[in-house]
Amino acid sequence: MAFFRSLISTLLLIAISLTFTFAQPFRCTSPGTKCDGLVDYVSPNRTTLSAIKTLFQIKNLRSILGANNLPLSTLANTTVAAKQTIKIPFPCICRNHTGISNRRPIYTVVLGDGLDHIATDVFARLVTFPQIQEVNNISNPNVISVGQKLWIPLPCSCDDVDGQKVVHYGYKVPGGSTVEGIAEQFNTSQDTLLRLNNLTSPKDLMADAVLDVPLRACSSSLISNSSLDYPLLVPNGTYVFTANNCVRCNCDAANNWMLQCEPSLINSSCSPIRCEGQENFYLGNSSSSGCNRTTCAYAGYNHQNILTAIDVQSTCQAPDNNSSAISLRGLRWNFLLISIHIMLICLPFLK
Ligand SMILES: *[C@@H]1O[C@H](CO)[C@@H](O)[C@H](O)[C@H]1NC(C)=O
Ligand SMILES: *[C@@H]1O[C@H](CO)[C@@H](O)[C@H](O)[C@H]1NC(C)=O
Ligand SMILES: *[C@@H]1O[C@H](CO)[C@@H](O)[C@H](O)[C@H]1NC(C)=O
Ligand SMILES: *[C@@H]1O[C@H](CO)[C@@H](O)[C@H](O)[C@H]1NC(C)=O
Ligand SMILES: *[C@@H]1O[C@H](CO)[C@@H](O)[C@H](O)[C@H]1NC(C)=O
Ligand SMILES: *[C@@H]1O[C@H](CO)[C@@H](O)[C@H](O)[C@H]1NC(C)=O
Ligand SMILES: *[C@@H]1O[C@H](CO)[C@@H](O)[C@H](O)[C@H]1NC(C)=O
Ligand SMILES: *[C@@H]1O[C@H](CO)[C@@H](O)[C@H](O)[C@H]1NC(C)=O
Ligand SMILES: *[C@@H]1O[C@H](CO)[C@@H](O)[C@H](O)[C@H]1NC(C)=O
Ligand SMILES: *[C@@H]1O[C@H](CO)[C@@H](O)[C@H](O)[C@H]1NC(C)=O
Ligand SMILES: *[C@@H]1O[C@H](CO)[C@@H](O)[C@H](O)[C@H]1NC(C)=O
Ligand SMILES: *[C@@H]1O[C@H](CO)[C@@H](O)[C@H](O)[C@H]1NC(C)=O
Repeated sequence: MAFFRSLISTLLLIAISLTFTFAQPFRCTSPGTKCDGLVDYVSPNRTTLSAIKTLFQIKNLRSILGANNLPLSTLANTTVAAKQTIKIPFPCICRNHTGISNRRPIYTVVLGDGLDHIATDVFARLVTFPQIQEVNNISNPNVISVGQKLWIPLPCSCDDVDGQKVVHYGYKVPGGSTVEGIAEQFNTSQDTLLRLNNLTSPKDLMADAVLDVPLRACSSSLISNSSLDYPLLVPNGTYVFTANNCVRCNCDAANNWMLQCEPSLINSSCSPIRCEGQENFYLGNSSSSGCNRTTCAYAGYNHQNILTAIDVQSTCQAPDNNSSAISLRGLRWNFLLISIHIMLICLPFLK
């Protein structure tokens, strides 16, 4: 009897330590820093994009579509097969040396729920029950009540990696993966992955773990650090909507990792976004003159304005093929004033 009891408690301990390694929080060193997080959700059952949107409390379906590079026309009732992976975008905040989703999603406890079931089954091991317990100040994990609201702390980070701004992607490790293979797949190094994930050896990689993978992303140094969407980082092959859904930004790594933004066409109350002082030169327009390619680029937004800037790239001098585009940007800043009055007048027509 005693033997079985100790065997069972040993097994339990192993199970608990496994749960911990499956969902280790990501290191995030400057407290209070906010950024965009991204994590894989492997749907346990057949479901729909709409149900996933609800579970993770994502405001707009198009955020999911953009993060997964799905066409904007994809319907909310689109089926997601069991075991299919969907990338979940969410707001991240650094807190106490780890990054967690910033008070979202909030899960409402239903009859028969336990913290472990919520962590393991509902959120597919993206978190552990002690992590849910900690952020929600729950003293006894066995006592939760129907209707109780729980903050689910998804793992994320806002740290630069090797001196570069990146999107930290919580990659659900498929069975049979190696650290080397993952490094190659995401164009990073094995050492970086080991360091970020506090792994001492590649052998420590476990299937089903959520690995912190730094994704290089398109960005723009024209976006000021006071912009409400700073730092806007868009991973290769994805798109986002920003500036009150007035602007859509795409990332194609082949374009030298430069963010490409244009009017979104999804919000009818946006004013035309024009680069000031230029005739008929609107956000996303570009023109070429000799070696110079001039673009009306996105430069961030605040509560009143969407900002644009003229971006001049030289395409000629190319001492080597790796730096064929030398930025000469910042020649001129233009502030496009969108009258609050116009917004208010237009708002009732939105629906
Ligand atoms: C999804 O929704 C569209 C319209 O919103 C409808 O035409 C279609 O039949 C629905 N598909 C499924 C599988 O429910
Ligand atoms: C920070 O984390 C440590 C250990 O992970 C914990 O002991 C401490 O209470 C935490 N501090 C806050 C303010 O949450
Ligand atoms: C998946 O389906 C099983 C069987 O229908 C059900 O017990 C379980 O709660 C479902 N899981 C989720 C996360 O909905
Ligand atoms: C948990 O307690 C801490 C300190 O008492 C408090 O700052 C925090 O807001 C509480 N969190 C929640 C989710 O209630
Ligand atoms: C991978 O990264 C290296 C160095 O960071 C870079 O030289 C190389 O071009 C990248 N490969 C791709 C396919 O982006
Ligand atoms: C890294 O792992 C070691 C043991 O493997 C542990 O003691 C340490 O707390 C971990 N550090 C972080 C930041 O998770
Ligand atoms: C924002 O950028 C300005 C100059 O570009 C710098 O002086 C300032 O410290 C930055 N602020 C933050 C919060 O990084
Ligand atoms: C960027 O994504 C495209 C597909 O969307 C892919 O073909 C290409 O290899 C990716 N480039 C890098 C550097 O990741
Ligand atoms: C559309 O744009 C207007 C003006 O910028 C803004 O006030 C409104 O919130 C936006 N609507 C949506 C759904 O984003
Ligand atoms: C400039 O941008 C506007 C607004 O997006 C667009 O309608 C127009 O076709 C663009 N003009 C050129 C020459 O690309
Ligand atoms: C290209 O831009 C540079 C810097 O603004 C300028 O000095 C040069 O005259 C431009 N060349 C052409 C052909 O427009
Ligand atoms: C740049 O790459 C092209 C092929 O893509 C090649 O023909 C050309 O010689 C390269 N130029 C330099 C300077 O390496």
